[in-house]
Amino acid sequence: MISKKDTTEKLWAGRFRVPLDPEVERFSSSLPIDRRLYRYDIRGSIAHSQTLAKAGLLTLRESSRMVKGLKQIEREIDAGAFVFTNEDEDIHMAIERRLTSLVGKVGGKLHTGRSRNDQVAVDVRMYVKDRVNDLIRGVIRFQQALVNCAGHHRDVVMPGYTHLQRAQPVLFAHHLLAYVEMLERDKQRLRDALKRIDVMPLGSGALAGPNFPLDRKYTAHILGFRAVTENSLDAVSDRDFILETLGILSILMTHLSRLSEELILWSSKEFQFVELDDAVCTGSSMMPQKKNPDVPELVRGKTGRVYGHLIGLLTVMKGLPLSYNRDLQEDKVPLFDAVETVSACVNLYPKLFQSITVNREVLAAAVQDEWLFATDLADYLVTRGVPFREAHHIVGRMVRFCSDHHRKFTDFTLKELQTFASQFDKGAIEVLTVEGSLKRKSAIGGTARKRVEKRLAVLEKALQREAN
Ligand code: ARG
Repeated sequence: MISKKDTTEKLWAGRFRVPLDPEVERFSSSLPIDRRLYRYDIRGSIAHSQTLAKAGLLTLRESSRMVKGLKQIEREIDAGAFVFTNEDEDIHMAIERRLTSLVGKVGGKLHTGRSRNDQVAVDVRMYVKDRVNDLIRGVIRFQQALVNCAGHHRDVVMPGYTHLQRAQPVLFAHHLLAYVEMLERDKQRLRDALKRIDVMPLGSGALAGPNFPLDRKYTAHILGFRAVTENSLDAVSDRDFILETLGILSILMTHLSRLSEELILWSSKEFQFVELDDAVCTGSSMMPQKKNPDVPELVRGKTGRVYGHLIGLLTVMKGLPLSYNRDLQEDKVPLFDAVETVSACVNLYPKLFQSITVNREVLAAAVQDEWLFATDLADYLVTRGVPFREAHHIVGRMVRFCSDHHRKFTDFTLKELQTFASQFDKGAIEVLTVEGSLKRKSAIGGTARKRVEKRLAVLEKALQREAN
């Protein structure tokens, strides 16, 4: 608990004649938002006190007293026993104030050579590092759920679309694996960003570097950073690593949103390709028959929120002179909310795919649509020596003829076929099967069963390895 004396004076009050206006105090406080950084703040302070000791600015006794105090504060906050006060501007001040009340005057030495500017930068980098690693694990689990679903429905064929018009038959698994590839790139981007996130800014002071020869590599080593920042002005005002993370999360949400859109369409009466489990849908308060795909709709909706955070922070950053400006405090709401929103979506989505019902009969009926084979027919003519452009035109005329006369490709006699192109022979109609159509798409990346099976196996193995 905090004593009365702890809460009266600001840590920076020396040069001020009057106390801070309470309304300004409330306006400028970031404590309700940044208190979730407390573990990182304490870790950073422990590392800083050890660095001070190494530089001879604290005795070992002083530093270990501080470390003990800081660990106690962590336990107090963990247990909900820590009392925050209105006067605590942010988590950094709250912890430092409490430390001094616990360990006495020596607590006042902790901030030697440090500013809240480099302190908050290191806290946020540690937070982002952890959350990005969590997200990578979440993406892997999501990919595994998609790969499993693809594997369970490996026999299912569906119409592939362009312009939301039926185009060519594809394997349902191929369609799901398209999203696995998107998530693969998201994961790569997150891993790549870690290189730039994982750089240690503490020891930059307020802006110019500390007045003491602090061993910053030692601090980085204690905190598990791979490198230290090279310019103190940049270090305290750089939020690229947040912008980059928000950019990556925005692209990731684009993928989730597109998938959501497909699930919403597919589960409609018009498509009926899939049914989402009752446990993940909700009903209507008025219309008793309704079963609504709320989860995909919310994911699609939350995508807008994440984009907003990216644009919001870009806008905060765009006119800032070097180095630290209080505007930078506005980085936290977008960062925390984006990370929490995206994590919730990524972590929930596997559940939808574990319990999804794929309506095999509807999909099987949908690929009976002969026009899905129009390209195959044109390509057949190509094998008989017709230039593709010409073949495309010939089959186009056949499609128009079928549409005008309610005919089907498969009804044509050989004679009739030859009225469209003399190159047609007996084999032409035999190519118009789902299996034949799939089989021919055997180039790398195509929807041939063999190809998809191979990719499924590669992904299964790779994800298994990554998950361990
Ligand atoms: N709460 C501040 C932030 O989040 C900490 C740094 C404040 N520094 C300062 N000089 N006022 O950015």
